[in-house]
Amino acid sequence: MKTINLASISLVIALISLWSCQKNGNNTGPYAAIKAKFGTKIDPTNLANYANQTKPTYIIKDNTAGNTISNPKATLGRVLFYDKQLSINNTISCGSCHIQKFAFGDTAVASLGVLNGRTARHSMRLINARFGTEAKFFWDERAITLENQTTRPIQDHAEMGFSGQTGRPGLNDLLTKLKGIGYYQELFKFVYGDQNVTEARLQECLAQFIRSIQSFDSKYDEGRAVTPQDQQPFPNFTQQENMGKNLFLMPAQFNQMGIRTGGGLGCGGCHVAPEFDIHPASGNNGIIGNLNAPGIDINNTRSPSLRDIVAADGSPNGPMMHTGNLRGLQAVIGHYGTINVAPGNTRLDPKLRPNGVGQQLNLTQPEVDAVIAFMRTLTGRNVYTDVRWSDPF
Ligand code: HEC
Ligand code: HEC
Repeated sequence: MKTINLASISLVIALISLWSCQKNGNNTGPYAAIKAKFGTKIDPTNLANYANQTKPTYIIKDNTAGNTISNPKATLGRVLFYDKQLSINNTISCGSCHIQKFAFGDTAVASLGVLNGRTARHSMRLINARFGTEAKFFWDERAITLENQTTRPIQDHAEMGFSGQTGRPGLNDLLTKLKGIGYYQELFKFVYGDQNVTEARLQECLAQFIRSIQSFDSKYDEGRAVTPQDQQPFPNFTQQENMGKNLFLMPAQFNQMGIRTGGGLGCGGCHVAPEFDIHPASGNNGIIGNLNAPGIDINNTRSPSLRDIVAADGSPNGPMMHTGNLRGLQAVIGHYGTINVAPGNTRLDPKLRPNGVGQQLNLTQPEVDAVIAFMRTLTGRNVYTDVRWSDPF
């Protein structure tokens, strides 16, 4: 009996696989090139969920502005994001400098682009880019929307190289290049109904993919979900984490000399809970260096969300600030502890120079430790490994 059962089971399995093979057609059909390239990682008949993710009810800031996420477009965005063919010599993708396991940032101070190009600023984490009031992107907010941002790295001479400068191809050459690639012919047809590749379509899909990258499974979120207000103690927090939260959120009190005499550290006035996105009116924070050029750069008034600034083990996901010159949270707090009003820094945020002088937070070691402990609660888990945001190549 046993042997007969086993034999008939294997016969059924053999028949099923024969049938599915014929049905899906391994090398023919509308998705043959996609299948050949990505196997099951990208399957137009079974897309990953980007469009209907759940987010906490207290998360309300959103810069989507009409480009609502759909699974087909975000999927095409994922392919574009990880495709090295978007660089002139097929060596660099967006994912080269925005690395999933580092919260879509980079551990290098300046990231490596094509032909040994180096970025002029430190790379930015892309987690929760959607959930913020400030809709302009880059450290200096020079991209008026996320859509506008997405095709700039492609055209950046040092990054992906389609700059049109010094004899290099330009963006139109890239569009032509992509039109000639089989899996894009199928993907654009699948997503848009025709094979045309335009800058607007690249922007739409890349922006949707980036906006889909979300992280709301942190210790902070577990506490926030059961606490009506950020200011109240979270039941799942240690005493130290609750103290750090208060210090982060509450404004400081200063004397005439700009020395803190009480209150918190005022971080939340610019990195606004519960998204921890940058306040649109923020000035710069006193970090005004240039990475590979002399002089000062006072226009960096944006920060990525402070969520996932460190990894689950507390180690930094990369050096911090546009200069990447602060190696960890201790150094960051130290920076805010004594703000120098540098000559020429006309865009230093007034909150950091009470009574016209650079603030001195006058911190105690327990206060520093508490703020760091709190900032570590902002780190999630799933976003670092979820396959829908991973490299499909
Ligand atoms: C060579 C490294 C490199 C590559 C390749 C790269 N980036 Fe970036 N990215 C950076 C750096 C550096 C910054 C900050 C630059 C600045 O502000 O001047 C940045 C900033 C961004 C931002 C702004 C985030 C924010 O919160 O303001 C987005 C979005 C982004 N990149 C998306 C992309 C996309 C999409 C691609 C591919 C088309 C890409 N990047 C390719 C290095 C890179
Ligand atoms: C006046 C507004 C303001 C205040 C107050 C402020 N920040 Fe910032 N923060 C910024 C800006 C702007 C940047 C980006 C600066 C840059 O790179 O040039 C930034 C960057 C950061 C970064 C680095 C982010 C990254 O991705 O590298 C950390 C961490 C940070 N701030 C933590 C804090 C903490 C902790 C406090 C309170 C002690 C604080 N901030 C207070 C405006 C502010």
